Amino acid sequence: MKILIINGPNLNLLGIREPKVYGNRTFEEYIQKLKIDYSEIDLVYFQSNIEGEIVTKIQEYGFTADGIILNAGAYTHTSVAIRDAIAAVNTPVTEVHLSNLLTRESFRHVSMIGPVCRGSIMGFGLESYRLALIYLLNLKS
Ligand code: DQA
Repeated sequence: MKILIINGPNLNLLGIREPKVYGNRTFEEYIQKLKIDYSEIDLVYFQSNIEGEIVTKIQEYGFTADGIILNAGAYTHTSVAIRDAIAAVNTPVTEVHLSNLLTRESFRHVSMIGPVCRGSIMGFGLESYRLALIYLLNLKS
């Protein structure tokens, strides 16, 4: 089983960036643990600060992978291009966020990508990714 995790802009700074909102663990640390816990899965990780690179990656994996877990960061709220890419592929995409967007600024309450994703998991810190993974694994069993 192949699952792709995509992190968008500024998520390369997890651990350093606004720790009160996003915690103090790096994503690299977290994904190592996830890979050990789910060693039977081919878990691929991609991070980019560039919108077009995220679109390209969704296209690349969107017809072959078993699932995509996407934290589009700030592009969540703005990107028609990422939304269109998700709608174009047939691999299920789950939206994740570390923070609970509904408790934050009003511009974060709107997700441009939400309507074309299977569902959205938010507010559980890094564990949002594991919850999305469990959903995708259950789809296959
Ligand atoms: C985020 C929430 C977004 O609003 C923000 O721009 C991020 C991170 C989250 O994981 O909580 O970069 O996607």
